[in-house]
Amino acid sequence: MYKLEWKEEYSVGVKLFDDQHKNLLSNLNRIIGIFNDSGSKEEVEKLLEDLEQYALIHFKSEEEIFTKFKYYGSEIHNQEHRLYEKKINDFRTKFHASDEKVNTEVLEFLADWLMGHIQGTDKEYKRFLNNNGVF
Ligand SMILES: [Fe+2]
Repeated sequence: MYKLEWKEEYSVGVKLFDDQHKNLLSNLNRIIGIFNDSGSKEEVEKLLEDLEQYALIHFKSEEEIFTKFKYYGSEIHNQEHRLYEKKINDFRTKFHASDEKVNTEVLEFLADWLMGHIQGTDKEYKRFLNNNGVF
């Protein structure tokens, strides 16, 4: 599976969020790397936990700004975050309980969702936040 790459065109216009997105991509890349090298279950579990923790921190950062500036798109946006959190958590729980190695389909889902979210839903707040003086 290919590693993910952050590009300037993915910028959402807010430095903190761009930095967090880059970190999320490297978290996922670490998991993809271990998957590609067929690493151990323990290693994958540890990294999944890191990914989950970091995703929670990042979503919270975005949502705090949405609340602060009463962002009109926050409801739908936050729902997407909840779904992703659930997906990671479900996967982590299932993975922990099984003897399987990391499932490439779920890994691809996690990667595709994140890339799509950054380039779609996240991009939508760019103009709004920038107009409110958040960069
Ligand atoms: Fe988001």
